Amino acid sequence: MRRAERNASFSLRYGPWAVVLGASAGLGAAYARELAARGLSIVLVARRAEPLSALAAEIRAKFGVETRAVALDLGSPEVLAALERETRNLDVGLAVYNAASVDIGPFLDGSLSDHLRAIDVNCRGPVAVAHHFGGRMRERGRGGIVLMSSLTAFGGSPYLATYGASKAFNLIFAEGIGYELRRLGIDVTVCCAGATRTPGYEASAPPKGAFPPVMEPEAVVRSVLRALGRRTVLVPGGVNRALSALMRRLLPRAAAVEIMGGAVRGLEGT
Ligand SMILES: NC(=O)c1ccc[n+]([C@@H]2O[C@H](COP(=O)([O-])OP(=O)(O)OC[C@H]3O[C@@H](n4cnc5c(N)ncnc54)[C@H](OP(=O)(O)O)[C@@H]3O)[C@@H](O)[C@H]2O)c1
Repeated sequence: MRRAERNASFSLRYGPWAVVLGASAGLGAAYARELAARGLSIVLVARRAEPLSALAAEIRAKFGVETRAVALDLGSPEVLAALERETRNLDVGLAVYNAASVDIGPFLDGSLSDHLRAIDVNCRGPVAVAHHFGGRMRERGRGGIVLMSSLTAFGGSPYLATYGASKAFNLIFAEGIGYELRRLGIDVTVCCAGATRTPGYEASAPPKGAFPPVMEPEAVVRSVLRALGRRTVLVPGGVNRALSALMRRLLPRAAAVEIMGGAVRGLEGT
């Protein structure tokens, strides 16, 4: 199939509107651009209004689609009411929950409110969004939901314990709803990304020449959009796939946690 035909069929299944939550930077901005390139209009959601509006304008100008920028904290209790209000009149065929709250550091040094906030943004948010937009997609008989997990989902993650556990939640949650929703015409894909060059990743001051190699956000997003409708769980990148298979299938779980602890220890804040 030629690219134009592929885009038209993607847009028919998952358009005309996509909502990207956590869209102002990094992987979320890459999702917004890649979806607009496939002809979808985009609702961009994040806390910072300025980068959101700039990206919305860039996408409108470059791809000729419609955009809406919604400044919203996905950790707030009003999140669903606000999303409902902002998207009520839009035919939303795809929801991408990309935002995450990430705090690297010893568990006991982080405040309890920060840990609980990570659960709000990383777990409550995806459940609320999947329930809300999934319900609307059920009525139209088609659509897609993308959730972001991580290689940290496959075992305990020292110095990232709450974040890693929240990513395991996304993986297991997506597997469960993926089975249910595909019977309703709704495709679910969860992306277990490895290190990806984003502002969030760079802020953790990763060591140079880290292994496995860092992926570019566009490459991750393209592989997720290719997987949508084909597979529920995706580990993007050949090296990441090999590494995650090793961690999950060959190493005893406790050994995998030790390796993970060693890899994270020494990063900014640990
Ligand atoms: N980068 C990696 O190496 C990597 C690896 C594995 C998995 N992932 C996953 O990929 C996703 C994106 O990661 P990233 O590295 O691109 O992150 P990032 O560079 O930190 O960007 C996160 C995005 O989410 C938004 N966001 C964060 N908290 C929010 C909140 N409370 N409410 C609304 N928006 C919020 C941020 O915008 P505002 O600050 O404007 O709100 C930003 O647009 C995450 O789910 C992460 O767990 C990333």
